[in-house]
Amino acid sequence: NKIEVGDKQFELFIENDSIAKRTRLIGTELNVDYEGLCPVFIGVLNGSFLFMADLLKEVEVPCEVGFIRVASYAGTSSTGAIKEVFGISEDLKGRHVILVEDIVDTGFTLKFILEKVYLQEPASVRVCTLLYKPDAILHPIEELEYTGFEIPNEFVVGYGLDYNGLGRNLKDIYRVIPDNISLT
Ligand code: PRP
Ligand code: MN
Ligand code: MG
Repeated sequence: NKIEVGDKQFELFIENDSIAKRTRLIGTELNVDYEGLCPVFIGVLNGSFLFMADLLKEVEVPCEVGFIRVASYAGTSSTGAIKEVFGISEDLKGRHVILVEDIVDTGFTLKFILEKVYLQEPASVRVCTLLYKPDAILHPIEELEYTGFEIPNEFVVGYGLDYNGLGRNLKDIYRVIPDNISLT
């Protein structure tokens, strides 16, 4: 249950089965909440790619699907500086928008994206995230409506989440074993 990603050791934290169960439940909620509204799902790349794919397979209401790209991390902590944004190409005016994230950490990324989204005058905006770290939040996200798991403030990889670009392809989510107690 331990793996290495880059120069760090990680231990199994959330298994794919649990992710899948939680994702199905969120999908069910979305199907109820968005019936007849033809929402637009927007995944935040890169981290959301697997969650987005699995979540959208559970969504049965007519909807549109798109992605935006924002990156703010280097290493294991948020740098607080947005490095890249590849714009919102969809016309969101009057639309019901659901932003999909793998993780809400400080909230900085979403705060930045939400500002851009509101400029387009959508009918509603909500956030759906697989993971949420309540103890790390610096910019509370009022729009956060659908959360897979609330987790402690520990660095995690897998299922879309990376450590210096690695580990996104892991099926399960792992948490870092701090260097000083890694005695393997
Ligand atoms: C990660 C994660 C979220 C964001 C959360 O993305 O996927 O988008 O950080 O952190 P925050 O709440 O402190 O802003 P990252 O910037 O690492 O880019 P990536 O998705 O390409 O890994
Ligand atoms: Mn991301
Ligand atoms: Mg990242």
